Amino acid sequence: MIEVIGFKKSFGTKQVHKGVTFDVKKGECLGLIGGSGTGKSVILRSLIGLEKPDSGKIIIDGVDITKMNERELLEIRKKVAYAFQNGALFDSMTVFENLAYPLREHFHLSEKEIKDRVHDQLADFGLEGNEFVYPGNLSGGMQKRVGLVRAMMMNPQVILYDEPTAGLDPFNTKKIQDLILRLKSRGVTSILVTHDMPTANAVCDKMAMLSQGRIEAQGNMAQLNQDERGAIAKFISGEEF
Ligand SMILES: Nc1ncnc2c1ncn2[C@@H]1O[C@H](COP(=O)(O)OP(=O)(O)OP(=O)(O)O)[C@@H](O)[C@H]1O
Ligand SMILES: [Mg+2]
Repeated sequence: MIEVIGFKKSFGTKQVHKGVTFDVKKGECLGLIGGSGTGKSVILRSLIGLEKPDSGKIIIDGVDITKMNERELLEIRKKVAYAFQNGALFDSMTVFENLAYPLREHFHLSEKEIKDRVHDQLADFGLEGNEFVYPGNLSGGMQKRVGLVRAMMMNPQVILYDEPTAGLDPFNTKKIQDLILRLKSRGVTSILVTHDMPTANAVCDKMAMLSQGRIEAQGNMAQLNQDERGAIAKFISGEEF
């Protein structure tokens, strides 16, 4: 479903990605880890065409999106949703309007259809009763959940999660894990950028670690949990490698 091949990108004189290659199969969840500034968020942004690599390919569902124009990228953004780190809700809009926004942007639906879709989605994810609340009056955990639910309004085939549990208490972390697992059970393909290993263990099929511009190590969860001296185990335990 996703293939990143030889992804290279520099900002000014600093080469952040020196040839990053990985793939995610349909229905899989890849955990992407790596130190701060290794370029995880840039890769996620590139997967929806908000950034372009200097060279390399990004193939989504068989098509290289690095060659696409803005109009074609809009179609990709219906298929691939990006759940921003902070939820990125619009503060001046209620929860209802935040969830209605992507529908209004991408489809020509009647008010009744929009209302039904938003209410169904809120009920489906246990968030009913919050329609008329403004994001500023929601807890951080609730904001993130609403952010994820908004990312899913378009029924995307792919969801990119950028540190969805960072800073959350165990209850809200569990809620987010459940949400990710629900989507996975529906066949959604995903990439999860995280430092939260319990969450990665709960939802990911495999992990890849970015270091010095490349994928330093990767493997499925069983392999990684056995490989105590591997680069990923060292990274997680805070050791230098
Ligand atoms: N638009 C930009 N202009 C200049 N430099 C940028 C830009 N976007 C990213 N960078 C640089 O690219 C590097 C990678 O950034 P990125 O945000 O992808 O890191 P990250 O792995 O997501 O880090 P973190 O774990 O802290 O979120 C950083 O050094 C950052 O400063
Ligand atoms: Mg980041």
